Amino acid sequence: MTKKGRILTIDPVTRLEGHAKITLHLDDDGQVADARFHVTEFRGFEKFCEGRPLWEMPGITGRICGICPVSHLLASAKAGDDILAVAIPPAADKLRRLMNLGQIIQSHALSFFHLSAPDLLLGMDSDPAKRNVFGLMAAEPKIARDGIRLRQFGQEVIEALGGKKIHPSWAVPGGVRAPLSEESRERLKARLPEALRIAEEALELFRKISGRFSEEADALGNFPSLFLGLVTRDGGWEHYDGVLRVMDAEGAIIADQVDPREYRTLIAEAVEPWSYLKFPYYRKHGYPDGAYRVGPLARLNLCERMPTPLAEEARREFRRTAGDKPVTSSFFYHYARLVEIIASVETAATLLDDPDLLSSHVRAEAGINRTSGVGVSEAPRGTLFHDYQVDEHGLILKVNLIIATGQNNLAMNRTVLQAARHYIRNRKIPEGFLNRIEAGVRAFDPCLSCSTHAFGQMPLQVVLFGPEGETLDERTRE
Ligand code: MG
Ligand code: NI
Repeated sequence: MTKKGRILTIDPVTRLEGHAKITLHLDDDGQVADARFHVTEFRGFEKFCEGRPLWEMPGITGRICGICPVSHLLASAKAGDDILAVAIPPAADKLRRLMNLGQIIQSHALSFFHLSAPDLLLGMDSDPAKRNVFGLMAAEPKIARDGIRLRQFGQEVIEALGGKKIHPSWAVPGGVRAPLSEESRERLKARLPEALRIAEEALELFRKISGRFSEEADALGNFPSLFLGLVTRDGGWEHYDGVLRVMDAEGAIIADQVDPREYRTLIAEAVEPWSYLKFPYYRKHGYPDGAYRVGPLARLNLCERMPTPLAEEARREFRRTAGDKPVTSSFFYHYARLVEIIASVETAATLLDDPDLLSSHVRAEAGINRTSGVGVSEAPRGTLFHDYQVDEHGLILKVNLIIATGQNNLAMNRTVLQAARHYIRNRKIPEGFLNRIEAGVRAFDPCLSCSTHAFGQMPLQVVLFGPEGETLDERTRE
């Protein structure tokens, strides 16, 4: 192999939503100097919203992404509440919370059982043709079936409220369009015991097998970083509202009780010429030192307690794995996701017993009382910001969206760099590296569909470059 002229292309990352490309850059000594996770398509959704009426924004932004419509719907409705300057009725708050829990359950179930369990249970070096949900069905039919059932439960919660599985424009500025029906409530309650049983068994299974992946846990996305997310006023786990908290890798809380409207005091966004996805960072630490992670791992590091008993027990055990320091390995996003499923099922159970869910007082009517508003909630993948400016008639002048996958962008780049440094030898990409890098990025459960505001899937390509920009090696899988 000559020094120049080898291209290394990593085959499609088939279980990420959306499309991207990874390039690795070697220095003169053949060491991996830089790794870039490119997002190469952009539809300009923020621009597209300009001129639209505020009231249509939940429905419009719910169509940004086929994977996380509920998250955008809720953040958008909350930005609308802020512009109307209303406190939404208590029933509406609880109903929106219930929908978000349904979204977390279905999304986390998809991530764990369908996308990651094939790696975890069949092995990262197992036959790629079988290392998917169909292979899982053949080898571990009970787990595959459980995963489908749990995801269905989350989808049923969403459907019972929004009326449709995808893109429900049910949340609106000021509240929601309709309460839960008594019949739906009884149907959902009947499914709770099975959902909780599946969630608990999945957590037990993960604890049992996670020891097999100690090399991956060390080499794939294990580094100090900041963590950012919502917590309740008194520091508990939060998924829908609350205040922003930032923690450093040692566990020190470096920002707390921050009103989500003031998010710009915490977050700035950098741009790189090689990616359409921006790079949010913690403003005070600068770019790129202010890299932070959001999502399940961040939320479990940030909060001091879970709201329900089984989830709190699980959180304590989760934190003990790092000796009560923050858990810094991205491999444990999987673990955190399972703890959050338990919390979501338990919390949904509490909410479903609340008589407010059937109340007909679910919407505050008001006009435009502010010309800007911010809505923040925790999407399954992490904190989601919708920031709108409107004119006096409520027509959109400007939109800024900061999505979870964008906020994990720096950390995903670092994960790829760390994996490359660990596994790349002799200017070649070894067998099995493709699977590792794919698994490393997948731990974040990135939504590239959201990131690029595009639909569909496209392969991830990885190219290894030498010091003079020459391509060095290529590996593809059909
Ligand atoms: Mg933006
Ligand atoms: Ni999305």
